[in-house]
Amino acid sequence: MAGELQGQVAVVTGGAGGIGKATVELFAREGARIVIADINDNAGQALADRLGGAARYQHTDVSDREQIDALIDRAVADFGGVDIMFNNAGIACAAFPHFLDDTLEDFQRVIAVNLFGPMAGTQAAARRMRAQGAGGVILNNASIAGLRAGQAMMTYRASKAALIHFSKSVAIDLAQYGIRVNCLVPGHIRTPLSAFEAKGAPAETAQRLEQAIDTVYLSNQPLKRRGLPEDVAEAALFLAGNRARQITGIALPIEAGVTAGDPVNHLQDILAARLRVLGPSG
Ligand SMILES: NC(=O)c1ccc[n+]([C@@H]2O[C@H](COP(=O)([O-])OP(=O)(O)OC[C@H]3O[C@@H](n4cnc5c(N)ncnc54)[C@H](O)[C@@H]3O)[C@@H](O)[C@H]2O)c1
Repeated sequence: MAGELQGQVAVVTGGAGGIGKATVELFAREGARIVIADINDNAGQALADRLGGAARYQHTDVSDREQIDALIDRAVADFGGVDIMFNNAGIACAAFPHFLDDTLEDFQRVIAVNLFGPMAGTQAAARRMRAQGAGGVILNNASIAGLRAGQAMMTYRASKAALIHFSKSVAIDLAQYGIRVNCLVPGHIRTPLSAFEAKGAPAETAQRLEQAIDTVYLSNQPLKRRGLPEDVAEAALFLAGNRARQITGIALPIEAGVTAGDPVNHLQDILAARLRVLGPSG
């Protein structure tokens, strides 16, 4: 459906890279005007320049309330309002394999960017949407790390679990203004955030490392296809547009089936163990 967001004004935080950038590009193709918010000024401005009159760039650290307010003001000043707010910006936490080794040094920053940022973004955008009187759409980018407990990265998991809970709760509250609030829940998506890059490594080594890491991620997915930023952008487009007019308060997994269940066939392993112990006649 071309032109699905025609006439809409969207704000995308973390819009200069990864999932945010893919979403900005898709929303622009679908007719939206967009304010790109990021702390990577070079990449953000370059993307806005490339999109021409349809986009603006505004330096915004989402952990700073005043910068969030200024971001919404920019959308109003340049494009006359805000209809879609995509709170996408997020950061990983330090990757200690075990909690008892975790220094928790990055706890404040991760919570400030991954939880406070979307909360402040939701409030600032929704206040403006209420004043406009025509409803609106809030999208928050969580993660399967927020749906599934698991080994390691507890700070990141906690920030994303809280974001899902916040989004569902505020969806109920903002429904009275016709504002829909939904969460995107990506699985592994290939971006700098999830790359575990070897900084400064030769290209060939970096490629081998990427393939090795992909193998680990894919082993956990029923669908053996690598997730791309565009996959999340397509889900964002659906939830942002009128096709999703009856949908609020959901957390939509985009994760190749990871949360559907365990892709390992334990029954085969159990039957093999039984055979080993009891033999063919057991
Ligand atoms: N990549 C994955 O596998 C994955 C999986 C699940 C969820 N997510 C979530 O998707 C979102 C986007 O992640 P990504 O993979 O595209 O990451 P990315 O690192 O490729 O892009 C993140 C963007 O956010 C910007 N940013 C970082 N801190 C910011 C801040 N304080 N204020 C404003 N902008 C800031 C960065 O400059 C960058 O442009 C994050 O919330 C992340 O937690 C990613």
